[in-house]
Amino acid sequence: EYPDLAPVPPMGWNDWSYYTCGVTEQDVLANAAALVRTGLAAKGYRTVTTDDCWMAPQRDAHGDLTADPAKFPHGMAWLGRQLHGMGLRFGIYEDAGTKTCEGFPGSMDHYAQDAALFARWGVDYVKLDGCNVPTAAGRTKEQTYRSVYQRMSDALMATGRPMVFSVSAPAYFQYDGDAVWHQVIGWSGQVGNLWREGRDIALGSFPADKKWASITYNYAYNAALAGLQRPGRWNDPDFLLAGDSGLTTDEMNSQMCLWAVMAAPLISSTDLTALSPAALGVLGNRAVIAVDQDPLGVQGRVVDQGQDYAVLVKPLVHGARAVALFNPGSTPREITTTVTKAGLPAGSYEVRDLLTGHRSRTSGVISATVAPHATALLRVGG
Ligand code: DGJ
Repeated sequence: EYPDLAPVPPMGWNDWSYYTCGVTEQDVLANAAALVRTGLAAKGYRTVTTDDCWMAPQRDAHGDLTADPAKFPHGMAWLGRQLHGMGLRFGIYEDAGTKTCEGFPGSMDHYAQDAALFARWGVDYVKLDGCNVPTAAGRTKEQTYRSVYQRMSDALMATGRPMVFSVSAPAYFQYDGDAVWHQVIGWSGQVGNLWREGRDIALGSFPADKKWASITYNYAYNAALAGLQRPGRWNDPDFLLAGDSGLTTDEMNSQMCLWAVMAAPLISSTDLTALSPAALGVLGNRAVIAVDQDPLGVQGRVVDQGQDYAVLVKPLVHGARAVALFNPGSTPREITTTVTKAGLPAGSYEVRDLLTGHRSRTSGVISATVAPHATALLRVGG
């Protein structure tokens, strides 16, 4: 099994959703500087990942990957040193197949070479995408993916450098039926530390309604996977969009609170250099981050839901519970649950609203009036 390098869900920033293929080293460094300046790095957002399109279109004479000389003129080892100098961690993207999704050289048949190169470059986190993986002769698609991800996992381990391994395989089986896809998630949690599943979250350039629809889709998809993760092995429902144009503060907060109650990786993908105070407040809410990073490492489960509401409960250390009351509807709504449904023995408990800081007590009903598209996140007991 791959080493346990992510005891709590990974946190950081990735360039993809906002910059896509046009990303440059200045963009990455400007966002890294913003992580530090805003205090988000100190709160845990430390891994900065350059996604697809950092590479030159061909490997060099030694067969090594090289940085695109126009977009990353100082090269990736230099970029890694800059990030480390800022107290951050260096994440990099590759693909398990012959080419990345955007057509750059993939790792297929180069796993050991690429893993060794990443280790030399000081990489701390590898996201291995799953485009362009041809099914091998005499094997099924599932067997093929399993063997290529296993090979990269072994190659990363063989370098001796601890690199968190993000596996994209499950996203490539989401339409292949539950049985096979459960199998893929099962081995993803053995070869790596986290895995992408479901659809890609909307890009920064998408219209606002598409962004919200994509957040609610990924939420529902991920909520159903609660039983498939375990502490240190995380479901990854994709990037946080807080900061993107078009989303309301309630919508940004909902994504943040839902991801936190589901113990999802908190990976921002927006332009952090232009973050509004509201978006910074959402991403930087220490109490919400603490729910996500709780050392028990349990993904919260839906305990009650209807057309216009959902209640999720996540056990926290010292017997507390995080309770999310989500209103996906278009009118304000009072959402109610109880200490019993939150899994707590009968008794009197403190209830703290993690967004307003308001404290109260209950020995039965837990409820809040929740605005459209908003989520209340409460800490009960503990
Ligand atoms: C698909 C992934 O799911 C995205 O997050 C991003 O990495 C793109 N590929 C890049 O091509």
